[in-house]
Amino acid sequence: MSRPRRATRLPLTTPPLPDGINSMKRALGVCYYPEHWPEDQWPDDAARMAETGLTWVRIGEFAWSRLEPQPDRLDFGWLDRAIEVLGAAGLKVVLGTPTATPPRWMLDRHPDMLAQDAQGRPRKFGSRRHYCFSHPGYRTECARIVAALAERYGQNSHVAAWQTDNEYGCHDTTLSYSAAARDGFRHWLAQRYQSVEALNRAWGNVFWSMEYRSIDDIDLPNQTVTEPNPAHLMAFRRYASDQVVAFNRLQSQIIRRQSAAPILHNYMGRITDFDHFAVGADLDIASWDSYPIGFLSDRLEASEDHKTAFLHQGDPDFQAFHHDLYRAVGRGRWWIMEQQPGPVNWAPWNPAPLTGMARLWAWEAFAHGAEAVCYFRWRQAPFAQEQMHAGLLRPDSAAAPALDEVAEVARELAEMPEAGTVRADIAIIFDYASAWAWEVQPQGKDFDYFRLVFAFYRALRRAGVSVDFLPSDSASLKSHKLVFAPGLMTIPPPLMTAMAAHEGTLILGPRTNSKTPDFATPVPLPPALDFLDARISLVESLPPAIAISLQGGGAVRHWLERLEGNFKVTLKTTDGAPIMASTGSKHYLAGWPDDTALDRIVADACKAEGIARTPVTGGLRIRDTATHRFVFNYGKDPADFAGQTVSAAGVLWRPLA
Ligand code: GAL
Repeated sequence: MSRPRRATRLPLTTPPLPDGINSMKRALGVCYYPEHWPEDQWPDDAARMAETGLTWVRIGEFAWSRLEPQPDRLDFGWLDRAIEVLGAAGLKVVLGTPTATPPRWMLDRHPDMLAQDAQGRPRKFGSRRHYCFSHPGYRTECARIVAALAERYGQNSHVAAWQTDNEYGCHDTTLSYSAAARDGFRHWLAQRYQSVEALNRAWGNVFWSMEYRSIDDIDLPNQTVTEPNPAHLMAFRRYASDQVVAFNRLQSQIIRRQSAAPILHNYMGRITDFDHFAVGADLDIASWDSYPIGFLSDRLEASEDHKTAFLHQGDPDFQAFHHDLYRAVGRGRWWIMEQQPGPVNWAPWNPAPLTGMARLWAWEAFAHGAEAVCYFRWRQAPFAQEQMHAGLLRPDSAAAPALDEVAEVARELAEMPEAGTVRADIAIIFDYASAWAWEVQPQGKDFDYFRLVFAFYRALRRAGVSVDFLPSDSASLKSHKLVFAPGLMTIPPPLMTAMAAHEGTLILGPRTNSKTPDFATPVPLPPALDFLDARISLVESLPPAIAISLQGGGAVRHWLERLEGNFKVTLKTTDGAPIMASTGSKHYLAGWPDDTALDRIVADACKAEGIARTPVTGGLRIRDTATHRFVFNYGKDPADFAGQTVSAAGVLWRPLA
């Protein structure tokens, strides 16, 4: 395919950053597996990475069988040499802990360390992530290997960052139904509830005679005849998330004792099984693994037309959503640890990126404040599971298509090395426990928390405004003029106070504050807000074909609530039923708005707060940094933006006035 023409770029002038804006250097990197290649190839690889303009190289995260080929017989010689070769070429190393891939002999020591699926079947050796987060023996082994690595490389000047494990939760591994998980869960329940009576009361176990006489009688919530108590399920989800947090904390504490280098973890797209904010609290930087084309076919509800239009580019909002979310998880500091360079191997279909996308994806990440974008992987492996996954090099070491684009981004970065992320005027509250609650009791087949929040986010992107995410334990909303909290199942008391005090616009619902932390319906009835007199008297979930039209255009779908109370009706159905209940600038939405309705809601709220919109259509998207406006074209054809042509798969930027 010939390279599409780029629009002429405007001059790269970088005005000084205003006070209080986060300014950071940007860099590129790559994931490398020295243990996959003959040692005499390493110097060439390292030199070529440096020539391409790469700064970072991540290694080691799956190498346990080479670091400890026999139990307690550590072999660091090869890793010493690999780090030396990479460092000598001027590269900075991110050293991964290898705990996602325990070697086969580990099972001889700990036969019961395997996770079990909900049917009680062990998840066997022969791929990766074959461990249960709750297994104490395996945690001890992890602490041992991480300590050995940290002691050996903690002061190594080439090791400039650490990665804990790899993609917690990948391959559905957060939840395990093993004996270790059951024992851990009982212990956790005893801590949380203190007595079996309190637990029975909190869960409502009088229902169906589910009362327990001892916490030690409580099993995991799988293999029941019909659905388990949602409170039981919700407690198990909280427990499972806490195990990921503890597993990660153990590693980061060990590393910190030996090294001052920042520690990060590589999260994933649309994985909500554990609380990323809680894991992130123990880390210095958040990173995530971005596979736009794989995600489009594998992880996104969208029409076939949409999937066809963006087949070679990825969804225009999915990456940006995660950039913004993980910026919040990393408290401002975040990276892309793995960026798709070509076709992947794991989605239902694996098309190649359009020429230009490897560059566009990188710039989009930088425009959202990424400090680094690392590609996965340096050279395509000719063996094992991922032989069909492209790298920056082909298996024969010739350049794969993305390599040139990466070198181009490196040259562009040299011209414009600073990024300044600004606080957006708009925030969405994102809450992992709400995602579990939706799964525990969805009530409608297609009702999903991520999907709901993503619908709001997409509407904001269509309006061309920047968005921040906030965790639900935020105790102040002062920093943002307009705050959305769609589907937030429980409002913690400090957030309720912050919402009441918020002087800007607040848009809650649907289903916000509809359950207690122990998964009961609150009385007085939801949304039980301190600042808005509204009660939901009835809820309905609706099949996808049903649309309830709204006066003035648009509709609600999937979910509808009936409201009573003393409020102003600011949006109603064509039948006159209230859909938005308002008091001043605080609003509760009693349904899931379609795109037309969301666009209206966003436009009205932005107007009320004096936030300028720049509506965009098709594949065009924009994002402002402190100094520049970036324009991205996810479309297959050139598009016009404010009188300028943005080429297909192109990006341009200009200084903000
Ligand atoms: C990620 C993972 C990598 C590799 C990659 C392939 O999920 O962290 O190790 O498997 O996917 O796309």
